[in-house]
Amino acid sequence: MKKLLVCLLAIGFSFSLLAQDIELPAPKKTGGKPLMECLNERKSTKGFDSSKQLTNQQISNLLWAAWGYNRDDKRTAPSSRNKQEIDIYVALKSGMYLWDAKSNVLKLIVAKDLRKETGKQPFVEDAAVNLVYVCNITRCDTKGDTQKLTEATYANAGFIAQNVYLFCASEGLGTVIRGYVPKDELAKTMKLTNDQLIVLAQSVGYGK
Ligand SMILES: Cc1cc2nc3c(=O)[nH]c(=O)nc-3n(C[C@H](O)[C@H](O)[C@H](O)COP(=O)(O)O)c2cc1C
Repeated sequence: MKKLLVCLLAIGFSFSLLAQDIELPAPKKTGGKPLMECLNERKSTKGFDSSKQLTNQQISNLLWAAWGYNRDDKRTAPSSRNKQEIDIYVALKSGMYLWDAKSNVLKLIVAKDLRKETGKQPFVEDAAVNLVYVCNITRCDTKGDTQKLTEATYANAGFIAQNVYLFCASEGLGTVIRGYVPKDELAKTMKLTNDQLIVLAQSVGYGK
C-alpha cells in the first residue's frame, strides 16, 4: 500500500513537471539573413516534417520577431492606436500556451497537444508550432463598432504574420498564415472568454 502511494505520488510529480509554464531564454536580436534575401525567399509552406521540433531558443526568437517588445512599451509590429490587443497563443506538442511577451514565459493553458485543433488542413498537425492570434477586445477602443474592430485587428495580425514570414525565411523554416480555422470549437478548447476573438493562425516548422 505504501509502495503504491509512493508510486502514485511519483507519477503525479512527473506529470506536473511535464506540463508547466516554459521560461524561454532571451531572444537573440542580432544576425539573420539580409532583408532583401528574406523577402526574396518569403513563401507559404503547406507540408511540414512532423519529426522536427523547434528549440526553446528558436521559439523565443520567433515570438520576439513576431510581436516582441523592441522599445519599453512598443513592439516589432505596429497596432492601430497602439492598442496592442493581439495575444499570441502557442500550440506545441507539449500543450497550448499563452505567450507573456514582457516576461518571455509561455503560460500553460491546456496540457495537451492541440496543434491539430488549430486548423482544418492535414499539414497543420505536422507543424512544430501553431501560433493563434487572439484579439482581446477589452483593449480595443472601437466602441462596439464590429467592422472597425475587425478591420483593425486583422490588419494588426497581418503585420505580426509578415514578421513571422520574414523570420522563417531568414532561419530556413516554413510557415503559412491561415484563416481556415475552426474558430468556435477552438475558442472553447482554448478556454477563451467572450472578450477574446480568434483572428488568424500561423503554422511554423521545418518544411518537408
Ligand atoms: C489572410 C490570409 C489567409 C490565409 N489562409 C490560408 C489558409 O487557411 N490555409 C492555407 O493553406 N493558406 C492560407 N493562406 C496562404 C495563401 O494561400 C498564400 O499566401 C497564397 O497562396 C500565396 O502564396 P505565398 O504566400 O507562398 O506567396 C492565407 C493567406 C492570407 C493572406
